[in-house]
Amino acid sequence: MSNPRVSKLRYVGLAGPDFAVERNFLHDPWGLPEVASDGELAYFRAEGSTEPFITRWRGTAQRGLDVIGFAADSRADVDALAQKLARSGVKMITEPHRLDSPGGGYGFRCFDGDGHALEISSDVAPVAARALNRGESIPAVLSHVVLHTPDIKKAVAFYEEQLGFKVSDWLGDFMSFLRCDDVHHSIAFIPGPPCLNHVAYEMRDMDEMMRGAGRLMKNKVPLKWGPGRHTAGNNTFSYFFDPVGNSLEYTAEVDRVDDATWKPTVYPPGFEITDQWGTSVLSDGPQGMGKPVPDPALWQAPPV
Ligand SMILES: [Fe+2]
Repeated sequence: MSNPRVSKLRYVGLAGPDFAVERNFLHDPWGLPEVASDGELAYFRAEGSTEPFITRWRGTAQRGLDVIGFAADSRADVDALAQKLARSGVKMITEPHRLDSPGGGYGFRCFDGDGHALEISSDVAPVAARALNRGESIPAVLSHVVLHTPDIKKAVAFYEEQLGFKVSDWLGDFMSFLRCDDVHHSIAFIPGPPCLNHVAYEMRDMDEMMRGAGRLMKNKVPLKWGPGRHTAGNNTFSYFFDPVGNSLEYTAEVDRVDDATWKPTVYPPGFEITDQWGTSVLSDGPQGMGKPVPDPALWQAPPV
């Protein structure tokens, strides 16, 4: 096991107040079926994903990023990663053990360099995915998570060196897009105090992204930025605020990357780079995504 690494983004766990309101929102209108809930913790899947859940929602006093779940390919990789991280001085939360979240599995938790809790697991039982039909404007799979960080070079180095991510592209020297499988980016970093910028859900195609965006607008969910198409990743985007104030994105047509031939590009910052079509002038733009504030949950292990 010379180079154990993360091989997929599995789920993003969010935490915050108004448990019932957010729980209802994630199901409808956002479009994630709920798979389990105990009144303080709810799990949601996506119809096109084999993951037993792709979003976790936990009721807490303050809004924050609770945990990010990644896959490793095998139990041996999980063990090797845990050993490697501990040896490197990474702050561990739990040793590898049997997981009791939906789908079970074997995994451990640690903090990344900024204090966000991560879970890395294998042997999670997959569920049946189905191909979404035309007109089903609900998320097919979880796409990516974007985090603010005060030191982007350090954050990128952590995910490259400790977890095996590869840089797909840069926007100037301040935004980096990283992959752990063939998806152009599963995680990206932009400057700011450590906190969540947004979580993105991939729709079947651009039509479904637009239909989904229309459904949210009809439900008076605030559109913050979009619709448009980015250049890095070439994905379409529409960013909305959920009821507790997280930015969530509907995206589509995210580039798939061939490791053997992909060469990272450094794109010059500019309106036409972040919005190829120019249509996001309809919205508040990236400024509408809110001012980042340090996540209150940094360096605190989630209780579940
Ligand atoms: Fe995004």
